[in-house]
Amino acid sequence: MNEAPLSAAALRHLRPDIRAMHGYTPGEQVGDCIKLNTNECAWPPSPRVHEVLRALGDDRLRKYPDPRARRLREVAAATYGVTPAQVLAGNGSDDCLTIIYRSILAPGDRVACPWPTYGLYDDLSAIQGACIEHVDWARDWALPAVLPRLGAKLLLLANPNNPSGTVVPVEQLRRLADALDGILVVDEAYVDFCPGGSILPHLDQHPNLIVLRTFSKSYSLAGARLGLMFAAAPLIDVFMKVKDSYNISALDQAVGTAALEDADHHRELVRRTLQERARLESLLASLGWTWPPSGANFLLCEAGPKAGDLYRGLKDRGLLVRWWDRPGLNTKLRITVGTPEQTDLLMQHLRELL
Ligand SMILES: Cc1ncc(COP(=O)(O)O)c(C=O)c1O
Repeated sequence: MNEAPLSAAALRHLRPDIRAMHGYTPGEQVGDCIKLNTNECAWPPSPRVHEVLRALGDDRLRKYPDPRARRLREVAAATYGVTPAQVLAGNGSDDCLTIIYRSILAPGDRVACPWPTYGLYDDLSAIQGACIEHVDWARDWALPAVLPRLGAKLLLLANPNNPSGTVVPVEQLRRLADALDGILVVDEAYVDFCPGGSILPHLDQHPNLIVLRTFSKSYSLAGARLGLMFAAAPLIDVFMKVKDSYNISALDQAVGTAALEDADHHRELVRRTLQERARLESLLASLGWTWPPSGANFLLCEAGPKAGDLYRGLKDRGLLVRWWDRPGLNTKLRITVGTPEQTDLLMQHLRELL
């Protein structure tokens, strides 16, 4: 049976702008490859995560989870020095972003972000029918001065930024929050790799500030899907109404709590990542490569006009890095910090390909 005419009839009921949009392209997830392309942690999560999963009884699976993830939020609040009323848990920080967009933006409203940055900010804006304005980063990935004057209701800033890994000093972000007549989201997915880089300790001084964190990077739990949002309690109250009722599974609530409680393991994951980042930097420097200073678990390397060939060559050899066929980025490779063995293999392949 030819389904096309039937589908066309049904498709006309869908929003034309949604049908026309491209959709977010996640980094490739290819089995059996060494993945240095989506900034996951190179080492396993806390062993306590396995313990809580093993101990999870039938009842926790049979029943709906706590819709407000109270225990997880209490432990998160204690970990980050805020109150539970200032915390919301999301199914990944992507879910937190969705909740923020749905709560703040009506069709036609303006969103802005420095560019390039995390691509999902665009797609969420398209889904919401909002208008997103990209502002090129100033020289050396510095904050564009115009940001507070764009008339945006929502301003998004990944700090450290993805894909550059660059960091805007906290004091500059605080001045931006003060100057902005809108909501500033500081997406701190990678901030654990940048000691002293978080704006979270200043949350109480900025009522228009939202800070995002994720378990996908420094906690090594990208597969679990867990993120946190921090904001003033009245904002969190509103966001609670918008999120899916049971947005965090019982498994994730248990896993996230266990990971937060094992602070020693988290410190060790961060320490190993920073140590290996330094080693990767010295090895890449020996190739004559450059990258902007990174506060994240990846480097955006300038690889020249052959960047696309190198990406394909590495992929043929079972090693994934990130490359974008897009002006401004197509001479660069974004490389996630891996284990020492993965770094050595990467360097061996790069030397052979170059
Ligand atoms: C800046 C930034 N924010 C958010 C995310 C998504 O995080 P999560 O896995 O918690 O949805 C990523 C993932 O790469 C990211 O780079």
